[in-house]
Amino acid sequence: MTSGKKLKGVVLAGGTGSRLHPLTSVTNKHLLPVYDRPMVYYPLQTLARAGVKEAMLVTGGQNAGDFLPLIGDGSRFGFERLQYAYQHEAGGIAQALGLAEPFVGDDDVLVILGDNIIEGNLGAAAADFAGQDQGAKLVLTRVDTPESYGVVELDGDRIVGIEEKPTEPKSNLIATGFYFYDAAVFRYVKELKPSGRGELEITDVNNHYVREGRMTYTVLDGFWADGGESIDSYLEAINLVAARGANDRAPLP
Ligand code: DAU
Repeated sequence: MTSGKKLKGVVLAGGTGSRLHPLTSVTNKHLLPVYDRPMVYYPLQTLARAGVKEAMLVTGGQNAGDFLPLIGDGSRFGFERLQYAYQHEAGGIAQALGLAEPFVGDDDVLVILGDNIIEGNLGAAAADFAGQDQGAKLVLTRVDTPESYGVVELDGDRIVGIEEKPTEPKSNLIATGFYFYDAAVFRYVKELKPSGRGELEITDVNNHYVREGRMTYTVLDGFWADGGESIDSYLEAINLVAARGANDRAPLP
């Protein structure tokens, strides 16, 4: 990271939550409980524990207003500044990220998917990214069902491509919902075309960095859970947090 650039944080908490229906028929997935706190607390705590002081929450839909009384100005989480953005339609993760451009400006950004929960923290990954002059960094983990995620193909130590939900995964190594980017990301987002499922895909953004040889990665320690992939993954997230705690057993903010 060139001197003077900050690492800002963006939590994406829009989308339809359709894979958790009917739990999400009348509320936003990220407001659902995961053990002792709402799901959205976990990505906010992950940002705060990575040392991020300025954050943005992007959400959408009918329950967007419920996040304000829940999270407020973010000071309880340790943020000096918390902004909100509204996504009018669930046009994809990359579209939601695009809304953060005025907030991020020329700084670097750590983007976190609002349903991703980890046992540990991203402090070391953030420090590594700070030492990387430019580009992007992915946080990887190994899973039993890679076909539900962005599957990473390695050649030796190098990422050569990422495939979104492939029917025949090339590995069991997947990209979790934690992404470090330089400000070029917003240029890439603007060049995207909607995928087969009609969304602007974060995997297309990541492949852009891969093609340019500007993508690094780290492999996560501790558990990773996607609380929104299916009702089973939601239950698994709750059980993991109950048994082992999340974000280094962070107390309730
Ligand atoms: O969880 C990791 C996976 O997340 C990655 O391995 C995949 O490569 C990545 O595409 C993503 O896949 P999902 O299918 O799980 O993404 P999902 O649609 O569940 O969206 C993840 C979060 O992004 C969700 O918590 C809300 C937010 N989101 C999603 C959409 C579609 C938005 O804020 N706006 C949106 O329009």
